[in-house]
Order: sequence, then structure tokens, then C-alpha cells
Amino acid sequence: MKFFIDTANLADIKEAQDLGILDGVTTNPSLMAKEGITGEKNILKHYKDICKIVEGDVSAEVISTDFDGMIKEGKALAKLNDQIVVKIPMTKDGVKACKYFSENGIKTNVTLVFSVGQALLAAKAGATYVSPFLGRLDDISTDGLNLIEEIRLVYDNYLYDTQILAASIRHTMHIVNCAKIGADVMTGPLSSIMGLLKHPLTDIGLAQFLADHAKGNQ
Ligand code: G3P
Repeated sequence: MKFFIDTANLADIKEAQDLGILDGVTTNPSLMAKEGITGEKNILKHYKDICKIVEGDVSAEVISTDFDGMIKEGKALAKLNDQIVVKIPMTKDGVKACKYFSENGIKTNVTLVFSVGQALLAAKAGATYVSPFLGRLDDISTDGLNLIEEIRLVYDNYLYDTQILAASIRHTMHIVNCAKIGADVMTGPLSSIMGLLKHPLTDIGLAQFLADHAKGNQ
């Protein structure tokens, strides 16, 4: 499973990159705003800065909601770096734009996906990634993991190349469960990734090994 970090925070991206397990980054307009990155020039520069830190794919979301605007914006984003994946909302114009980009060799991530039907359309439009938001489904008492499972089944039925990018990951167990289901990629905050490291028996065992080593060297 590929690990993406879902943030526009450069320090968090660097920390995940330093761990040696990072495959890419996803951002969205809310995450950019959270870091105080506003204005087209600053936003484009920030994407370039992110691309310098990581080697893998970096999702950059369009703000336009109409087909022509998405195409213009997406082309400008894709020009920034080969790593850029144009992130497009799951709308009628978004599906058309996804098809256009896939036919023109530009990578895409169809975002704000909440149903199997939407995921099927994204695959048919040739999306590189589809982003089902599992945390936001959990928020409204709907099983987000079940959606990932159903998309996996449908994509496997037809051998679609579109990668399932489990998004809106909120915690460590989301990552573990997505891995069991066979999501191709997960994107989550740094805390959810770092949580995978933790086990009390690891800490207890290490403390014991070090204590025994110290005794043996007295
Ligand atoms: O990748 C999508 C993600 O940014 C949404 O996460 O936590 O805002 O639902 P969240």
C-alpha cells in the first residue's frame, strides 16, 4: 500500500519523508488555507516546495467548477512538475475534465467520492486515483470502510487501473483496515502514520534488552 500524507504543512511532510516510507502528498483548498497559503502565486509556489521534499505524486486541487476553468487550471498545475496530480471534484464537469486529462497524459485524482457509483464513473473517465472519503462517512454514521471494500470489489471485477486512494483517514486503525481491504493508497495526517509505530510491548521489550545489556557490561 502506498502511503501519502494529507497535509500542506511542510514540516509534517519532511518528517514523514525522513521516515523513508512516504510515497506522496495530497492537499486540498482547506489544508492550504490552514497553513495560511493564499493567493494563486503563493499556492503554486507551495506546490513546488512540496515537490522538492517528496519524490512521489503530489495532488493539487482545482478551484474552478466549470469544465473550461478546470482544464485551464489543471494544465497550469500539471506544468509545475511531473509529480503533480490534478485533483478534480466528482461533478459532471469534473468527470469530463478527468476524461480530458487522462487522454492527454495528465494524472488525476477524483475527489469527494462518497458512493460506488461515483467511483465507477471516475474509473470509466480514466482517473489515476479515486478518493473515497471514509472519515466523513463515519462522521454521519455510515461505514466508510464498507465503501472502500465495495469499490475494491467493483474495480477488481473489471480490472480498472484506477487506484483506490482511501482519503479522510482520521486515525491509525483506518490505515490498518484499509490495508486489509486492499486499498491501493491511503492518505492521512502525520499522527495517523506515526501511530503505526506504537506498541507498549515494543517499549517494554526494548527497555528490558537495554537494561540486560547494561548489566552484562558492568
Ligand atoms: O484527502 C481528503 C481529506 O483531506 C479530507 O479529510 O479529515 O477533512 O475529512 P477530512
